Amino acid sequence: MLIVENITKTYRLSKKQMWIENSNNPLKVAANNVSFTVKPGEIFGLLGPNGAGKTTTLRCISTLIKPDKGDAFIELNNERISVVNEDDKARGKLSFLTSELKLEDHFTPNYLFNFFGQLYGLDEDTIAKNKKKLFDTFGINDFAEVKVSQMSTGMKQKTSIAISLVHDPDIIIFDEPTNGLDVLTARTVTDYLQELRNEGKTIVISTHIMSLAAKLCDRIGIIIDGKIRMVGTTEEILEETNTRDLDDAFFEIFKRSKEEDGGIVA
Ligand SMILES: Nc1ncnc2c1ncn2[C@@H]1O[C@H](COP(=O)(O)OP(=O)(O)O)[C@@H](O)[C@H]1O
Ligand SMILES: [Mg+2]
Repeated sequence: MLIVENITKTYRLSKKQMWIENSNNPLKVAANNVSFTVKPGEIFGLLGPNGAGKTTTLRCISTLIKPDKGDAFIELNNERISVVNEDDKARGKLSFLTSELKLEDHFTPNYLFNFFGQLYGLDEDTIAKNKKKLFDTFGINDFAEVKVSQMSTGMKQKTSIAISLVHDPDIIIFDEPTNGLDVLTARTVTDYLQELRNEGKTIVISTHIMSLAAKLCDRIGIIIDGKIRMVGTTEEILEETNTRDLDDAFFEIFKRSKEEDGGIVA
């Protein structure tokens, strides 16, 4: 179980960023009191437009950055691990797939998988066992000895996913997992996420694609301008917004959020 409690993260913007963001305020609250809970055997989707705060939130949960306020807790076997105060321990239980992962050009999937396995302190047998499962699933055996520099985007993403799961973590956090992938590769990824859910893993993905969220996620949290605006199953969100598909629901929630924040609806 993953419990996210009031995560808040503010960035200080450079002059150039302020210009890009069209803002006079050097402080940007990228995540604003974000809370949600994900149960084992559930895929939770953080759905929102570009700049909504998805990556920031997921990075805080994954211990890559520290929130200014709030925390996230991993509850496993009657133990409660704080990602803020017990980041080392939390890292052993979770996996983070970044949307900006750069694999070192020079190495092969085989080498990288072993390397990260050793980094997690896994023994050879465990590495071999986990590698077989993941390489079979993603068809990596065909290019296990090919250097990253020679691989397609799809091959790199499959390799990144396999590496992120090297330690068979209980909590899986994937930032925009199907971005830039062809439909077949995207399908392999979403099918595998469903398999992991069925194994009882606790899964969070972020996406800006409504149809993906509607299809893959058991529950969705809609995030706009750093704030979670609504949480529920697709059906609950449709009912609450009195709409018939998630696209329409999203626009309704977007409109409400602008009214709430006192902004102007474009
Ligand atoms: N390191 C950073 N420094 C300054 N501003 C940032 C930084 N990272 C993200 N931001 C800003 O925070 C906001 C949220 O970004 P992000 O979490 O990446 O959103 P999303 O993943 O939903 O697109 C954006 O306005 C972005 O420009
Ligand atoms: Mg992002």
